[in-house]
Amino acid sequence: MEPQKLDLKSIEDVKVIEVPTFDDHRGKLCFLENTLSMPFDIKRIYYVFDVPSTGERGGHAHLNTEHVFIGLGGSCSLYLSDGTKEKEFTLNDPTKAVYAPAMMWRTLNCFTENASCLVLASKGYIEEDYIRDFKSFQELRGSTRL
Ligand code: TYD
Repeated sequence: MEPQKLDLKSIEDVKVIEVPTFDDHRGKLCFLENTLSMPFDIKRIYYVFDVPSTGERGGHAHLNTEHVFIGLGGSCSLYLSDGTKEKEFTLNDPTKAVYAPAMMWRTLNCFTENASCLVLASKGYIEEDYIRDFKSFQELRGSTRL
């Protein structure tokens, strides 16, 4: 992959999306739809759950895939870094989603019992899209700034 093809957004481009919510006496309904509240077209959905309280998910970045994270139940922590600056979110409210551009290092941990995290992705699963070493991630971000 040519480094100059990477879209290097900063941690300031990470944002919280208020998920449109219908709330009535029957309960709450939230929705995300391509071209409405989503920052990208959804290509893939996955979710993590039954994560031990001391467990950790992620620990990698993606070259080109954008993601949206939603805590659907319980609570977990989402750590995002652009290699220089970082932000941390508590995912404990299904009406709030966190958007992470490509090339953000991310880790999910501090899962409470029964916590689940829904992840929406802009691309299909490709192992070659992963960067699993933080130093390589920082170098790639640094070298592509030139
Ligand atoms: P991984 O992305 O490393 O999990 P996490 O970021 O939550 O720690 O994925 C774990 C395994 O699941 C890995 O072997 C690849 C597989 N996988 C898929 O087949 N499709 C997917 O969409 C995802 C996210 C993972």
